Amino acid sequence: MSFAFTQENLTKISELKTRYPSQEALCLPCLWMAQYQDGYISIDAIDEISKQINLAPMEIYSVATFYSMFNLEPQDKLKVQVCKTLSCKLCGSDEILKHLGSKDVKIQHVECLGSCSTAPVMQIDDVYYENLTTKKVDEILEELK
Ligand code: FES
Repeated sequence: MSFAFTQENLTKISELKTRYPSQEALCLPCLWMAQYQDGYISIDAIDEISKQINLAPMEIYSVATFYSMFNLEPQDKLKVQVCKTLSCKLCGSDEILKHLGSKDVKIQHVECLGSCSTAPVMQIDDVYYENLTTKKVDEILEELK
């Protein structure tokens, strides 16, 4: 399956090239655009980004695999990222994880999401859900159906 940025995204990339110190610095914005466009980042998308910003595909792949927010395969289930770091752990993330285990979702354990004061926290797409309880999780998942 081939990948091509939409004309709108190509225009954005051109504009960003004038604002960033180097083309390589556009790696993250391009990965986001590819993911928003297709729902995930394919190898073909990585090749296209490589052409756009003149960076080796392996370097782009390394960035995409470093960050937990990028999907490298199509998502057939809702992907729920649950913070497993200390504040969330102390505030009940284990209970949230156990509860999510009975749901038809893909669970990904992630490190601190940077919202420790509202622990426990989970992220779905690019939205944070905070001060979680099992009841609140059920309401969120029901809303997203
Ligand atoms: S420890 Fe969970 S958001 Fe920081």
